[in-house]
Amino acid sequence: MTDHVTALLDELDLEEKVSLVHGAIDPAGTATGYLPGVERLDIPPLRLVDGPVGVRIPGRKATAFPASLALAASFDPSLGREQGAAMGREANAHDQDVLLGPGTNIVRVPHCGRNFEYFSEDPVHSLSFARAVVEGIQSEDVLACVKHYVANNQETNRTTVDVAVDERTLRELYLPAFRAAVDAGVGSVMAAYNAVDGTPMSEHERLLRGVLKDEWGFDGFVTSDWFGTEDAVRSATGGLDVEMPGISGEAFAALVGMDDGENDQSGESDGGMPDMANIARFEANLAAAIEAGDVPRERLDDMVARVLTGMKRIGRLDGERPEGSLDAPAHRTLAERIAVRGTVLLANDGVLPLDDDADVALVGSNVDTAILGGGGSSEVTPFVRSSPADGVTERADGDVTVAHGLPPIADPSFFDATTSEDGETAASDDRSIDDAVEAARGADTAVVFVRDRATEARDRPDLRLPGEQDDLIEAVAEATDRTVVVINSSGPVELPWREEVGAIIENWYPGQAHGDAIASVLYGDSDPGGRLPVTFAAESAYPTATTARFPGEGGVVKYTEGRLVGYRHFEATEHEAVYPFGHGRSYAAFAYRDAEQVDGSTVRVTVENTSSRAGREVVQAYVRSTGAGRADEPRRELAGFASVRVPAGESVAVDIDLHKQAFVRYGDDGWRNSEGPFVVDVARSATDRRLSVDLRRE
Ligand code: BGC
Repeated sequence: MTDHVTALLDELDLEEKVSLVHGAIDPAGTATGYLPGVERLDIPPLRLVDGPVGVRIPGRKATAFPASLALAASFDPSLGREQGAAMGREANAHDQDVLLGPGTNIVRVPHCGRNFEYFSEDPVHSLSFARAVVEGIQSEDVLACVKHYVANNQETNRTTVDVAVDERTLRELYLPAFRAAVDAGVGSVMAAYNAVDGTPMSEHERLLRGVLKDEWGFDGFVTSDWFGTEDAVRSATGGLDVEMPGISGEAFAALVGMDDGENDQSGESDGGMPDMANIARFEANLAAAIEAGDVPRERLDDMVARVLTGMKRIGRLDGERPEGSLDAPAHRTLAERIAVRGTVLLANDGVLPLDDDADVALVGSNVDTAILGGGGSSEVTPFVRSSPADGVTERADGDVTVAHGLPPIADPSFFDATTSEDGETAASDDRSIDDAVEAARGADTAVVFVRDRATEARDRPDLRLPGEQDDLIEAVAEATDRTVVVINSSGPVELPWREEVGAIIENWYPGQAHGDAIASVLYGDSDPGGRLPVTFAAESAYPTATTARFPGEGGVVKYTEGRLVGYRHFEATEHEAVYPFGHGRSYAAFAYRDAEQVDGSTVRVTVENTSSRAGREVVQAYVRSTGAGRADEPRRELAGFASVRVPAGESVAVDIDLHKQAFVRYGDDGWRNSEGPFVVDVARSATDRRLSVDLRRE
């Protein structure tokens, strides 16, 4: 604790201390969560703001970056650092102090409504991005708040569901990204709504006080998720430091522009929406609990010290705040660059890239909409946006015809319940699949844009594209032999038409630069740099395809698949992926040679671009033990990766750092090194392995 913080603690009275650990109404009306400060002692207010893909202040604007899953698809954490720093500058420009992100829950359930806000199904991949984004945000003297700690992997019943997970799985799969954020010095952690093994995360003494604080040495503050505090004493003693938002559901709804109809104040949770009667637990009860001895005074001092230490670290206690910058040209370019780098070319029979002078039919319900993100607390309103129609029209030398084919599919939102189940708004015009087919026939190439609808507070009902989008693709593909499908989705979707089309691009939720970025990839100005951070498979093939595993039974969801999540499951079972983890194609072609171990934790491989165009390759290293393994052991784990640009005809030596997480196991007596000998497979995806290296451990 700094002398400054100690001195303040000496001065603060009980009431003032309590006021520093629960939210209040922000007089400026901008913060998602607000601590008022103590004027008498020059402690300024602390403003916390959503969220992971840009600064969300209703009524104000900020750069809308691509979804976190799109960022992660770049397999390039340095972009995460850049995005974090840009968001930090924008938070400063908006007078905010804590950014409520990154979200780094593992993508366990393909349906999860918030997968677009998370990074990956793999712990090493997730932790690399969690660390990078935290470092980026905090490099601008804004605190990051990593969320949602822990095992918040579904939205169905998210506020009540109890996760039954064994310790080894928790340690090896779900905790590493949070640990990496702590090691990167994260200022704040948000406790998840769900319970783990019977205890709500906002009062989970073993995971908050034990693991996070005592074991990992986290010295920042733990905030509740919004309206996620049920009991002052249990939370404070369990390790929660700050209750948010601390204001009535009505005041909060007005602040974030929520529809009143959605704002259930009945005191009963509907599962996805938090129970907004959960307020002011600390304000109403904490002082009395201290006086009664139910919460030790030292605990309150610790809670306050953690908040003040965070404020000291970013200069706020000394009245400092960087000016920041908003919507800077560099932020616009970065948003576009990340959207390009996260775009995944799933399949291509040569129809892409498009010729400059090709006549193009742009088909799809939302071709004139930039897909900014999914619904919920991550929604950002940008200064500028480009739709696919804008981007392609601007880039094309040939004719561009727009034929929607289907009525618009409304953005999903828990703030607005006016759309129908499948998301199609009432047919507003005379759009028909026949018109789209006709446009496709008249063009050289048809590009069909399709989308899903995902939002916080709800999981997707299935992995199908909503409405009649599958029919639209099939009709267009039948009419022309040059069909490209561009998917804007929050995660995997089923692609029943995939053998019938010429190319498929997974473009996620690309944010404000949607149109410019996709045009750049379609025409080959940029190589599609993305690879899948989640496995694409048929719905029934995922490990969570039983009710007990998702969405749970009797309020409990059982993680009995253990560590066999994502590609680990597909490798260990007879189920097949449609597109594996790590998959994605370049317009160039690459050959791998000379894989070797450089030192204890680095493998080097030479990648040659054998084509006549520059391209980007994502080299992946999966480690496996050739010793006797247990049946429930993952067979192969991602240990490292690198994204490299290789000029046409040239070769580059690529170094891949192997993360120690892939070489350890958690057992009854804690962490131990896993048993070798180890082989590292140098690969282009979890299943496309090119070379192997026998590893010497030093
Ligand atoms: C979400 C958090 C978010 C908070 C504040 C909650 O419903 O789960 O991720 O930061 O609201 O908007």
